[in-house]
Amino acid sequence: MSENQNFGMDTLAIHGGINHTNFNEHVFPLFQTSTFMFENTEQGARRFAGEETGYIYTRMGNPTVEILEKKLALLEEGAVGRIYPTGMAAISSPLLGFLGAGDHLITESIIYGCTDSLFRKQFERFGIEVSFIDSVDCNQIVDHIKDNTKAVFLETPSNPTMKTCDIKKVCADVKAKNPDIKIVVDNTFATPIYQKPLKMGADIVIHSCTKYINGHGDVVAGAAVFKDKNMADMNHTQLDIGTTVSPFDAWLMIRGVKTLPLRMERHTQNAKKVTEYLKNHEKVDTVAYPGFSGMIAFELKEGVEAGKKLLNSVKMIGLAVSLGNVDSLIQHPASMTHAIIPKEQREKIGITDGLVRLSVGIENVEDIIADLDQALNNS
Ligand SMILES: Cc1ncc(COP(=O)(O)O)c(C=O)c1O
Repeated sequence: MSENQNFGMDTLAIHGGINHTNFNEHVFPLFQTSTFMFENTEQGARRFAGEETGYIYTRMGNPTVEILEKKLALLEEGAVGRIYPTGMAAISSPLLGFLGAGDHLITESIIYGCTDSLFRKQFERFGIEVSFIDSVDCNQIVDHIKDNTKAVFLETPSNPTMKTCDIKKVCADVKAKNPDIKIVVDNTFATPIYQKPLKMGADIVIHSCTKYINGHGDVVAGAAVFKDKNMADMNHTQLDIGTTVSPFDAWLMIRGVKTLPLRMERHTQNAKKVTEYLKNHEKVDTVAYPGFSGMIAFELKEGVEAGKKLLNSVKMIGLAVSLGNVDSLIQHPASMTHAIIPKEQREKIGITDGLVRLSVGIENVEDIIADLDQALNNS
């Protein structure tokens, strides 16, 4: 099954990557084990020497984790998938695999708060130079390429403003200038259902699987899918730093991702209706929705205090960070997910104090709108 690249996305989400064991079970089992036994010392030595395939130790490979890795590689149309314990580990581990002191990374200013902090506080501490492009037009990235530029990192649609970027054009322009520059795209908001960065010229696609990939709010995890096997083989950081996911979390995600196409369809249907509702509401000032997926950012005319009142008044919608769950969630980026970014910088990139981020779930849309309506009437 894992070899079949021709199935549609709905089928791949369910069957992709699955190789049944000798028990011919219906659902792939959870191998919740830290290590694997050898028949004898010779076999152990052969496995360590790479002369015999087989499992050794879960940090180096686990059957349950591998099923999910194959499934995500099929969904993103890449060569190799890797699963990490968090989305942040899925960003830091692959990038640290090919960036070192003296190298240069280009990214945009509007990215998830902890990704911003990773680049600004950690990468710069390791001597990796980072340029943040303060622009509404990501096509300007190419103008910042230098001799030591090794990677470009994009997040599109971006968290939390929903700004989008033409991945195909950025990849073409960057590769025309230097084909060795690695282009890494965080595809958490769009998912492979709406966007496949590797097909557009990117080298690595990243997910916070905590969000739509798992979809049920019970796992924190991440993934990276590499376009090419050599690039993945050269990237050893997962093994060395030890950013390995728990097999149980991988097992939950294998279950969660089965409904990804169906969930994304409903998230989009609901978010379109909620966007229309918000746009027509007299108290709402701006609404940003990319047209697909379930994420909306909006501002109220009466600003911060009205926004806070709205958040404190929702009943069914959860007041919580995270996103992409079947349940609707609402949060305030300036004081929550993006509080780590200094206020002056936040405002420059459109993360105003009044901005509200809504992750539209797959409940009945009438109930989502009714909850927003009663909360807006209170604000
Ligand atoms: C776009 C994006 N990328 C990465 C992350 C980090 O993922 P995690 O929280 O799973 O480490 C997040 C978290 O919100 C995110 O929104």
